[in-house]
Amino acid sequence: MKRIVSVAPMMDCTDRHDRFFLRLISKNVMLYSEMIATKSAIHGDRKKILSYSPEEKPLALQVGGSDKKELSEVAKIAEDMGYDEININLGCPSKKVQKNKFGACLMKEPNLVSECINEMVNSCKIPVTAKTRIGFDDTEDFDYLNKFVLKIKESGCKTFIIHARKAILKGLTPKQNLNIPKLNYEMVYKIKKENPDLEIIINGGISKIDEIKNHLKICNGVMIGRAIYQNPYFLTDIEKEIFNVKNNPTREEIAEQLLKYLEKEVKLGTKVNHIMRHAVGLYHGQPGSKNWKRYLSDNMMARDSDFQKAKHIMTVVQNNEKVNQTIA
Ligand SMILES: Cc1cc2nc3c(=O)[nH]c(=O)nc-3n(C[C@H](O)[C@H](O)[C@H](O)COP(=O)(O)O)c2cc1C
Repeated sequence: MKRIVSVAPMMDCTDRHDRFFLRLISKNVMLYSEMIATKSAIHGDRKKILSYSPEEKPLALQVGGSDKKELSEVAKIAEDMGYDEININLGCPSKKVQKNKFGACLMKEPNLVSECINEMVNSCKIPVTAKTRIGFDDTEDFDYLNKFVLKIKESGCKTFIIHARKAILKGLTPKQNLNIPKLNYEMVYKIKKENPDLEIIINGGISKIDEIKNHLKICNGVMIGRAIYQNPYFLTDIEKEIFNVKNNPTREEIAEQLLKYLEKEVKLGTKVNHIMRHAVGLYHGQPGSKNWKRYLSDNMMARDSDFQKAKHIMTVVQNNEKVNQTIA
């Protein structure tokens, strides 16, 4: 499995429509679902929560939980549904997630995590991977992290995605927890150097090709979240510079493909904005991108969004130049 560059799991962002869109831009990155709680995966509307388009693959399901039985059940479900990987969230610091005992607070319980992962590994054949932070609260200590990693490795997990900042479990909002604790890439590098047999993916604050190349000198892969969500076309630079892909689609070609998908999905009852909201950043950094964003959000949020509206947006997407002239 190629995890040289992955798009990070992001709640309310990397849903199936976003992943389909991202896959139109990059064939080589690994994609992750938003975090799905074990109970939702088991008892919820599975079609709604877990289904995806085959084009999205390779695709990992990220799960949140700490109940061995539930986690192993979800690992099996993921395998049966054709996911390529199941990833356990050991890095989310939100209060709600802590209350349910999953995410970053599990860094305090290496034995429990190890048991959970062991059950997951035994219940499926797809890779079981872990996404964690370098520490939590006052614990930002290499030995602690290394022991945590080794304990999980014992249970059969060979791939670790490490967000290179600690989680503050009390006092910071999830958003602050993505910015305030300082990045410490060295700690992740050291984990790789101490454990050359493990696949170590580095995450946090990566937004430039040079940064990706530098991290790849030491780590096996990089995971990027916000920089791709905000500027999805950055993926074409990644395709070109990291994967040597020469003929990348233009923004208009991507939009055209997305709108074919939109046409199909709208007929199945999907709302226009559920798809197009992810395309707001398509023209990021381009002249007129503000107009594009405003136009798109004004139109796609219309409550009675129907297929005519979608078609209209399609024309707009394909004639972005014209949009800039007409609505500027
Ligand atoms: C809106 C948003 C939602 C997120 N949701 C998740 C999630 O569901 N699971 C997870 O492991 N991390 C989640 N994260 C954290 C990202 O996966 C990633 O670790 C973090 O954004 C740092 O990477 P970046 O600096 O490249 O964005 C989320 C981040 C953002 C911005």
